[in-house]
Amino acid sequence: MTEPAVIVDHVSKRFKLYKERNQTLKSAVMRRRKSVADEFWAVKDVSFEVPKGSTFGLIGRNGSGKSTLLKCLARILHPDEGSITMNGKAASLLEVGSGFHPELTGRENIYLNGSILGLAKKDITARLDEIIDFSGVGQFIDQPVKNYSSGMYVRLGFSVAIHVKPDILVVDEVLAVGDGAFKKKSREKFREFTNSGRTVILVTHSLAQVREMCDQVAWLNKGELQAVGPAKTVTKQYQEYLDAQDG
Ligand SMILES: Nc1ncnc2c1ncn2[C@@H]1O[C@H](COP(=O)(O)OP(=O)(O)OP(=O)(O)O)[C@@H](O)[C@H]1O
Ligand SMILES: [Mg+2]
Repeated sequence: MTEPAVIVDHVSKRFKLYKERNQTLKSAVMRRRKSVADEFWAVKDVSFEVPKGSTFGLIGRNGSGKSTLLKCLARILHPDEGSITMNGKAASLLEVGSGFHPELTGRENIYLNGSILGLAKKDITARLDEIIDFSGVGQFIDQPVKNYSSGMYVRLGFSVAIHVKPDILVVDEVLAVGDGAFKKKSREKFREFTNSGRTVILVTHSLAQVREMCDQVAWLNKGELQAVGPAKTVTKQYQEYLDAQDG
């Protein structure tokens, strides 16, 4: 057995829920006391391992804690309990256009993003044509990205992230915005990526996509790990659960 790419060990993440309604700055100042907050566990005691060179999916209903867990993996949030071990360099693509500067052109954003993801300028230049070509944004590459469609944003962001060649790529739903042709291209790129021993962790609501792309899947339900295992088995369990719900 090779060492896992990622170890999620009893991870919990808590948020505070503020009870008071209609809270304004004025009323908060006037009251001069702390507001009452309930604790709420968005992720509760979740453990799993992601094998190196695999594609790992996270599924679950809206609000089940998938994005929160991904943010913990991306080190944007810190777990309140438990630990996460990443064996390698990670890059993440969490929200459409996150990490892009709206006033800069696509080309400038490639450099900005590439360097945030740890690539030297000369290495970005060396991969520039490939990045632009894969993104498919064409002549718009020298336009400010604020004028891009959401699909174009994602394509460019994804293209930079995958060409930076991190050991672990963390992707939240963004592929859902791409059109069919881009999804196909992305799938092929992911395959190339994992074939070279790299690891992908992705969140999606498309069970077809999960079955097609993922080796293993973790199903989160209200922050807790409901099941983890082969994509086929876990998506089947989840589908049965969904079918039994009313909405
Ligand atoms: N910064 C925050 N402060 C308070 N609560 C939060 C915060 N971020 C997320 N939550 C709550 O944590 C829960 C899990 O949210 P999360 O975004 O992880 O769900 P998700 O599984 O990604 O859902 P979706 O499928 O809708 O994207 C939700 O109830 C959400 O309201
Ligand atoms: Mg989410």
